[in-house]
Amino acid sequence: MSNVLRLAIVDPNDATRDAIKSMLLGMEMIWLEAECSRYEFFADVVAQTHPDIGLVAIDRDPERGLELVNKLSQNSPDCAVLVVSSSSDGNLILQTLRAGAKEFLTQPVRIEDLLGALGRISQRRAGQGERQTRGSQVIAVAGSIGGVGTTSIAVNVGCALAQDERNSVALVDLDLCLGDADVFLDTIPEYTLVDLAQNVTRMDFTLLKRSLSRHSSGLYLLPRPVQLEDAGLVTAENFQRVIGLLKATFTHVVLDLSKSYSAIDMVSLQMASQILLVTQLDLPCLRNVVRLMMSFNQMDGIAEKVKIIVNRSGLDSGHITLKKAQETIGKPIFWQLPNDYRTMIEVRNNGIPLVEFAPKAAITHSMVGLAEALGGEDREEPAVAAGVRKSPLEKLLNFWPAKNAK
Ligand SMILES: Nc1ncnc2c1ncn2[C@@H]1O[C@H](COP(=O)(O)OP(=O)(O)O)[C@@H](O)[C@H]1O
Ligand SMILES: [Mg+2]
Repeated sequence: MSNVLRLAIVDPNDATRDAIKSMLLGMEMIWLEAECSRYEFFADVVAQTHPDIGLVAIDRDPERGLELVNKLSQNSPDCAVLVVSSSSDGNLILQTLRAGAKEFLTQPVRIEDLLGALGRISQRRAGQGERQTRGSQVIAVAGSIGGVGTTSIAVNVGCALAQDERNSVALVDLDLCLGDADVFLDTIPEYTLVDLAQNVTRMDFTLLKRSLSRHSSGLYLLPRPVQLEDAGLVTAENFQRVIGLLKATFTHVVLDLSKSYSAIDMVSLQMASQILLVTQLDLPCLRNVVRLMMSFNQMDGIAEKVKIIVNRSGLDSGHITLKKAQETIGKPIFWQLPNDYRTMIEVRNNGIPLVEFAPKAAITHSMVGLAEALGGEDREEPAVAAGVRKSPLEKLLNFWPAKNAK
């Protein structure tokens, strides 16, 4: 699982509940698992959904609120209870903590206090060696030209990662019009990215896994929209939340970017922990890598996440040496995948990934090696510990021209 904290909230007061909710929804490390307006139902909600945090606003009825805190800490000891109240009476705070609450915040809640409380809860969980210590990795696979091998790499690295039973891996096809990741996996999925994007506020984890189709390799696929005209229904805002949900559910999220560097692609780059920029050793590709890196250098936190992947190494197409390529790009080549057109075309046409179709081939070894090199990297540190951060979307909208930012 990931470093995203899943939270359930109970507050009979709609106005204060909405205020806290809108604060939480802006935080990428929080996934709002459930909300409830009645104290009497909340213990069951928590027992069924197993959130990491139960936020109890006690102002409407402090006595019943405290009873609930007591019940939660007895019945669901893994759920850290965070109490919110407009009173800062020392006696009340003491009672709350005795009832089993881990944190107490005064209403109106200030974002820095909330972040501080969430950070402490997160650190305590990490200290207990719980599953949350392992963060979720978002691997964005971007290409320098059409047909460079982006989808081949995204699909096969995804399948290779999914072979490790400690991993749970999702692949999202972001070529919203012409994406073909479903062909590589020979699946006809029932749901697509559009369904998830449009229903993201109503999604829970069970529904999410049901909406994604699971390949025999263990990889979950979220494909592009079926209809061309539906591509516009995926917005930067709802897509950002889809990624938040996936991060809360999977250890690895692989994003197969389009070649248009759209607002959705840019959100992906911002949210990625690692970016694979795929190139071949020919002039058109390398020229684009240089251009892309120039743009990435202008953006906050992108360029340093980029790893250059040379695909079809050994293909004598442009007579550019690896050394020359590294000099031109000004960055080391992170990985080289050999040229093996026959195998690669077969795996695509048969819809069977390399690890199943040609487990002994050199290209498969190289792909698995790449997955290991990526999967073994340190996961990003929990966002809560880093304090208030600008959301990726905010950063993006500051940079990207308004016409591109839906
Ligand atoms: N390492 C490789 N060796 C030979 N052919 C490859 C290799 N990687 C990809 N290909 C082939 O290149 C073509 C384009 O690959 P694809 O992954 O669809 O690229 P993109 O997603 O960047 O458009 C496919 O026919 C694929 O089989
Ligand atoms: Mg592709």
